[in-house]
Amino acid sequence: MTEYHIPVLELVLTMANAVDLVSPAVGGHHKRVTYLSSQLAREMGLSSRDTFDLVVAAALHDIGAFSVKERVETLEFEIKSPHAHAEMGFLFLHRFQPFLRLADIVRFHHVPWNDGRGTTFNGHAVPPSSHILHLADRIDVASLGGDIGIPNPSGVLNRINQERGRTFNPEAVDAFGAFAAKEYIWLDLRSSNLDRILSDTLSQQVLVLDDQSMLSFAQLLAHLVDFRSRYTSTHTAGVAETARFLAELLGMDQSHCRRVRLAGYLHDLGKLAVGREILDKESGLEEQEFGLLKAHPYFTRRILETIKDFSDIAIWASAHHERPDGSGYPFHETSQPIEARIIAVADVFTAITEDRPYRAAMNLEDAANTLRKMSAGHLLDHTVVELALTHRHELDKARRSAQTEASEQYAAIMAQAV
Ligand SMILES: [Fe+2]
Ligand SMILES: [Fe+2]
Ligand SMILES: [Fe+2]
Repeated sequence: MTEYHIPVLELVLTMANAVDLVSPAVGGHHKRVTYLSSQLAREMGLSSRDTFDLVVAAALHDIGAFSVKERVETLEFEIKSPHAHAEMGFLFLHRFQPFLRLADIVRFHHVPWNDGRGTTFNGHAVPPSSHILHLADRIDVASLGGDIGIPNPSGVLNRINQERGRTFNPEAVDAFGAFAAKEYIWLDLRSSNLDRILSDTLSQQVLVLDDQSMLSFAQLLAHLVDFRSRYTSTHTAGVAETARFLAELLGMDQSHCRRVRLAGYLHDLGKLAVGREILDKESGLEEQEFGLLKAHPYFTRRILETIKDFSDIAIWASAHHERPDGSGYPFHETSQPIEARIIAVADVFTAITEDRPYRAAMNLEDAANTLRKMSAGHLLDHTVVELALTHRHELDKARRSAQTEASEQYAAIMAQAV
């Protein structure tokens, strides 16, 4: 059994970077809210366990808002219907055991304090940290848009104070009041060094995950990507299982196969940067849209390499559009590790056997022919393709069952969504 050790800082930066990819226009929101939450936690004397839950929740609190439009709406000071994205975030997060407590924090991060009545919402107990996160989130929103690039602290403080007791927990507002006059807080928020500043602020706690929890963590990230387009709602599950199967056929040991499967789940993470309208487009993308789509493996690599334990996975996952003849993108590497070549084959195989908005799925024999041609044209690894062709029926069965399972999960989550 493998154990993964992920320091809280790496976890927070990875999640915040991934979630912020969706709305680059308001870039850095999740990191700033993490910073503000950790300042509030310190001022209020939260335990290290509560602080851990709060800062990780802060790093991903708007994870349930999938589109740019939804994201921009969450950044209005008075949000019209704030609970749908919070509930969606909860539905994702509570499936991952280590995030159970923080799933509840996310679920209620827009519940107003309501003179104390906000300790419950729709019959559920609201965790005290939800109210701290709510405040941190609104402080960031209130401080956006300063003309000269730095916020106006007294304006922000006044605005927050007006809502003391009504929207925000008074104790949290007072904690904010205790540090709001310190200039460095506001300068930190706008600093290009915020990553390093967070590393000083966050504890040295490490999240230890076994194989099973690591798999559900990767699935959690994969869901984020897949759920944005109904056409691709099971794509990564298909790629992950196909890749694992090919790794096994190549004689890799079980723990190695599991790492390849993780890379399969994570390969399209960078698609978070690509708008739904582009992903779902029926035909011909504009040149710029195509440029953005082609950037997705780049973002996959940059996000994943933040986790040191993932340095190999980051490379395997992000080289799936590289081609042995160098004609791929975005790194134009000609020699890729075998794990990357496996994922490239798994990605093509899964993509062509799925329905897409602009074409129907290929049958297995046509798919086999396509792989054969790509291998002959040096676009896919010859050995991996030969293996896939020899075992195509088993491979296809494994892929299908993984995708059926994923589509049941998708349906289950969507059925609960508000
Ligand atoms: Fe939100
Ligand atoms: Fe891709
Ligand atoms: Fe893909």
